[in-house]
Amino acid sequence: MTYNPFSLTGKTILVTGASSGIGRAIAIECSRLGANLVITGRNRERLELTLSAMEGKGHSIVLADIANSEGLELLVAALPPLDGVVHSAGVLKRLPLKFVNEANLAELMQINFMAPALLTRYLYKKQLLTNEASIVFISSVASSYASLGNIMYMASKGALNSFMKGIALELGPSGIRANAIQPGMVKTQLTVLISDSEIEKDVNRYPLGRYGTPEEIAYAAIYLLSDATKWVTGTLLTIDGGLTLR
Ligand SMILES: NC(=O)c1ccc[n+]([C@@H]2O[C@H](COP(=O)([O-])OP(=O)(O)OC[C@H]3O[C@@H](n4cnc5c(N)ncnc54)[C@H](OP(=O)(O)O)[C@@H]3O)[C@@H](O)[C@H]2O)c1
Repeated sequence: MTYNPFSLTGKTILVTGASSGIGRAIAIECSRLGANLVITGRNRERLELTLSAMEGKGHSIVLADIANSEGLELLVAALPPLDGVVHSAGVLKRLPLKFVNEANLAELMQINFMAPALLTRYLYKKQLLTNEASIVFISSVASSYASLGNIMYMASKGALNSFMKGIALELGPSGIRANAIQPGMVKTQLTVLISDSEIEKDVNRYPLGRYGTPEEIAYAAIYLLSDATKWVTGTLLTIDGGLTLR
């Protein structure tokens, strides 16, 4: 066998938001490193596309809307014990303060914060997290790097980071780790609303001169899921081409 400290062989990993973008790349790349995956999202066709690009056998799809408790319960009921969880499902909504209201704030917080928080609670309470399980939250540099119109999204990712740190502390003694990845801009369905001309201007803010790829975020997830990071918990791993350096 070849030496690989980042191997995921023998690990069972759940990926939310696996029907698109970063979650899809994480599922595919984890399968290439030997993991057995449970992938979830709402869209069966796009989940099957992810599955068809994955390596190995025995992976499964669970269709669930994790923005409500029935969806969360349905998902949890279908899960085997997990060595890893990646919370990638998320939405972006950009509105200036005067358009923020209870309904749109609740809708965004529900999927970006409540769903990963409650799913983690269900998994822990139902003892579906194995000893030494690794939980990875896909946060965003937006958690602390302000941009206009991004109030609600920023707040949802800030809450997620704090939740991650709290559970890293609480679950550490049981061997369970929690970390978050903070990507800068990555071209996916989430960013389709941004025009090409805006992107062309925006990339100038990045010292490395471009947006990231979903695979570049997937490699960070692999690092945190693997045994190479058995002593890493409570960290925020920024992957942003240098955006937040200044
Ligand atoms: N792209 C970026 O520039 C960027 C930067 C920083 C952080 N992020 C974060 O990275 C994560 C993934 O983003 P992405 O760019 O990959 O977005 P994406 O391509 O739009 O994918 C979003 C995923 O979330 C799932 N999802 C949304 N609402 C859901 C719900 N109610 N129930 C279940 N699944 C739901 C979608 O699945 P279905 O449609 O099948 O339900 C889809 O698989 C998000 O948390 C995002 O905030 C992205």
